[in-house]
Amino acid sequence: MRRLLPAPGQDDLIQEDLDAAYALPVPPAGTTHVRANFVAAADGAAEVGGRSEALGGPGDRQIFRTLRWLADVVLVGAGTARAENYGPAVVPPARQEARIATGLAPVPPIAVVSGSLAIDPGARLFSAAVRPVLLTAASAPADRAAALREVADVVVCGEENVELGQVLGALAERGLQRVLTEGGPTLHAQLAGAGLLDELCLTVAPMLAGPRHLGIVAGDAWPMAQPMELAHLLEDDGSLFLRYHVPNKG
Ligand SMILES: NC(=O)c1ccc[n+]([C@@H]2O[C@H](COP(=O)([O-])OP(=O)(O)OC[C@H]3O[C@@H](n4cnc5c(N)ncnc54)[C@H](OP(=O)(O)O)[C@@H]3O)[C@@H](O)[C@H]2O)c1
Repeated sequence: MRRLLPAPGQDDLIQEDLDAAYALPVPPAGTTHVRANFVAAADGAAEVGGRSEALGGPGDRQIFRTLRWLADVVLVGAGTARAENYGPAVVPPARQEARIATGLAPVPPIAVVSGSLAIDPGARLFSAAVRPVLLTAASAPADRAAALREVADVVVCGEENVELGQVLGALAERGLQRVLTEGGPTLHAQLAGAGLLDELCLTVAPMLAGPRHLGIVAGDAWPMAQPMELAHLLEDDGSLFLRYHVPNKG
């Protein structure tokens, strides 16, 4: 992997270089830093056959892991957890030690936003040593909430819908301030649309997926487009890795 921007470029980036390139400051107490990570084809498709797997090569997987290793919590919408059959985050023992040394928990929990709580309590997600966090609304079916409380921390963040400002507040209260959201498009669009996103890490895969695929945002239209500032550009085997900041935020 090599760095193209900011110039002068650097070849043969190693893990330590990626850690430095994606390092995050600890946000002020009670606040969060929200980083989104997506992979998309050159035509913007964020899924092929309903999953993102076909889009990411070895470089994308390395950055995916790196961003998890730097995060306090991994936040996803229930659509992604279901489509991708989410499991617990995997952190190798040496990296767990490194996390502890910098004040992070050994492994980041997975947090899932779901209004319906249509999530199987027997799903792979709940095989984690670290309990997942489910962020839901008061309107979620009580029987599902009760079943899921056996295997996860269930937190109510809103009445009819899950309020994402409350979600971030609940995570910050638990000391989960460096939030990595892995989407999906519906959750991402709400976070970005509400001004809650600090940065976007985007892999552009060297392929066209063709028409009729989801992109990295879905749902209701925004009143206006949002500018982003490019922080860096890396490249590996034709895949591009962009890190964007939201101006005046991250
Ligand atoms: N390329 C990539 O990097 C990438 C990353 C992630 C996902 N994807 C792809 O994206 C697709 C999934 O898309 P998606 O848009 O359905 O995913 P999503 O954003 O993860 O999930 C949407 C679901 O999240 C819950 N949700 C989100 N916001 C909510 C709110 N404010 N209140 C209540 N519930 C809320 C709802 O779950 P309930 O239905 O349970 O209420 C909703 O149906 C999959 O094909 C996946 O492979 C691609």
